[in-house]
Amino acid sequence: MENTGESPNTGESPKGLPREILPGVMVCADAVELAYAAARRFVDWAWQAIAKNGHFNVALSGGSTPRELYRVLASPDFRGQIDWARVHVFWSDERAVPPEHPESNYGMARRELLLRVPVPGGNVHRMEADDPVIGRAAHAYETVLRRFLPLNDRAFPEFDLILLGIGADGHIASLFPGSRLLRESSRWVSTPLVSKLGMRRMTLTMPVLESAHRLLFLVSGAEKAEILHEVLCVERKEPLPAQMAVPWRGDRIFLVDEAAASRLAQLPPGKTASQSPVGTRRSEGKKP
Ligand code: 6PG
Repeated sequence: MENTGESPNTGESPKGLPREILPGVMVCADAVELAYAAARRFVDWAWQAIAKNGHFNVALSGGSTPRELYRVLASPDFRGQIDWARVHVFWSDERAVPPEHPESNYGMARRELLLRVPVPGGNVHRMEADDPVIGRAAHAYETVLRRFLPLNDRAFPEFDLILLGIGADGHIASLFPGSRLLRESSRWVSTPLVSKLGMRRMTLTMPVLESAHRLLFLVSGAEKAEILHEVLCVERKEPLPAQMAVPWRGDRIFLVDEAAASRLAQLPPGKTASQSPVGTRRSEGKKP
């Protein structure tokens, strides 16, 4: 059972609490309910991390799904509940575009959240993926991570929370199916050329995702029903990136809406709601 820490005083959304369809997989009525459920968890986890370590290190996701969450966090109901001076904001990936470009993950989060909450500028760590020497920028980002994040005993940076979406092909951040990058075992940040998009990206690598205290997947819309069922219920010889990202020690939580969960209603034969969703640790059995 997911330890949500949900409490009535964190801004109960109009429609009630998500239901757990598989361990760690929470289904919300719709995209708005999903954003509220994510915002309540963000607030609770920020409090916990700040109480424990004095700061909250979070990597934001790109794409369209987190936009509503950013808006809810910036709303009067929520923005006053977080000590933003103790929040450090990073990204799980970025497109090779300038910050003002409509495709910029930084740009979207800035417009929807960061310009509306009192987070100090020095606490916002953009991935400079528009740097003409993107490899240099990736190296510089590793230096920033090294400066602000604690290292786990595998010498990887440990985020308190990493937000992730899932692409229709099962990609997460900018880690795409079939990419050699999925076998990366030392670098923290990489700059894949995503051939099908014809563009370069900057992304946190799988070991960094696996080192997070919490991974929160936000998945919304009927167009994601097929891939979500695949990710959670179908064992694959070559696991999808979304199946591979399982924290070494932390929690992996999926917040999805009814539309995205529409294929989960009929769990495959032999799969019960108590069985953990598919998730293959890259090196199962090798504990840190
Ligand atoms: C990006 C993302 C990417 C995203 C998925 C889902 O930069 O595009 O980080 O991994 O999370 O593609 O995108 P949507 O939320 O738009 O469906």
